[in-house]
Amino acid sequence: MATSTSTGILDDARTAEREELVELLTTAYWMEIETVMNYIANSVNPDGVRAQEIIESLREDIAEELGHAQQFAERIKELYGVVPGSEAFRPSQGYLQPPDRQTDIVHVIRGVIEAESGAIEHYQRIIEFAGDVDPVTEDMLIAILRDEQKHRRLFEGFLREYEAEGRA
Ligand SMILES: [Fe+2]
Ligand SMILES: [Fe+2]
Repeated sequence: MATSTSTGILDDARTAEREELVELLTTAYWMEIETVMNYIANSVNPDGVRAQEIIESLREDIAEELGHAQQFAERIKELYGVVPGSEAFRPSQGYLQPPDRQTDIVHVIRGVIEAESGAIEHYQRIIEFAGDVDPVTEDMLIAILRDEQKHRRLFEGFLREYEAEGRA
């Protein structure tokens, strides 16, 4: 007698959900890669005494965002997807391009907050979708979401300080 073993999200019957998840995870992967690129640039470009705290903070974030990209890549493969190569990359972080003046730290702070907010929004969507079909992806995203909330909160604090001093 044939027995049917359920393998959850890896079941043949779940192909459509898997493909949708792989698409969402691929978008997340590119968001992390673009964030790494822009955090590297913005951790080097800024000038001035006041920029040093931002530079230090972004340097630490780069490793975390790279780690996120690697986690997304792993999960894409586990769900039978293929991690894309660089030719599929399309940039979307216009707001994180280098400012005209490299002492314009507020531009960088606002750009980081926007990048983190975008990640938070997209990862919440994945959590919502995965919640019904793939608790492992949901679990992974919850941990990553906390990192992004932490990053956003830190840069909100920087912005508050600049606003309090009338510089933002
Ligand atoms: Fe990230
Ligand atoms: Fe982040």
